[in-house]
Amino acid sequence: MTGPSLAGIWGRKAGTVEGFTRYSKAFKQADIIWNEHSLDAWLENPKTFIPNNRMTFRGLQDKAQRHDLIAYLRSVSQEQGPSSDQQAEGMSEGMMSQGRMLNLKALEANNRITSISHCGDTYTVTVQTEEAYEFWEFNLRFKTDGSEDGPVAGHPVIIPASMRGDRVFIIFAAPTEISAFIKSECPQ
Ligand code: HEM
Repeated sequence: MTGPSLAGIWGRKAGTVEGFTRYSKAFKQADIIWNEHSLDAWLENPKTFIPNNRMTFRGLQDKAQRHDLIAYLRSVSQEQGPSSDQQAEGMSEGMMSQGRMLNLKALEANNRITSISHCGDTYTVTVQTEEAYEFWEFNLRFKTDGSEDGPVAGHPVIIPASMRGDRVFIIFAAPTEISAFIKSECPQ
């Protein structure tokens, strides 16, 4: 589970980042305001500070590290550091945790998939420009995105997952589309 944005955390009530839909019950019910004391207790032991939360990060045992991290969060929160927009500009691919960069309905023709076939250990992905790309099956990851920024139903998209272009994400609008779309066939 990717967590909520921590931009503007200082003085904010826990569990209230707008648009973050994955909060646990524990967080929704928590009555905590984030400041140096609450953040220190949370980061020292997330499990006991808010029991049954969904954060997989185990925290920081080192007091000095927590102190530095909290000072950083405070300074960027009070806009002495890079804004989240500036950080987003620096990212070239993929999506951000919740402020999404890519609208998957608005990609170019060479990101729009027209067919996928599977043969042996290889997928062949054909896009709207009629180019066909081959991927070793282990380098290809299937995802779904049912949000309003996700792909059009029935029209999966392909985006790079590595700089070398040998790894990609294929994103469908819904899980039921995945196996229905992929044909098991080998080139003649
Ligand atoms: C230094 C590293 C991290 C810090 C300082 C941090 C801090 C926080 C804070 C302050 C919250 C509460 C936010 C709020 O009230 O909206 C939170 C929630 C959360 N974080 Fe982290 N986090 C860290 C790393 C991670 C990592 C590595 C993950 C997972 C990959 C993660 C996943 C989550 C999740 C899922 C929540 C929501 C918990 C729930 O709803 O139960 N965090 N984190």
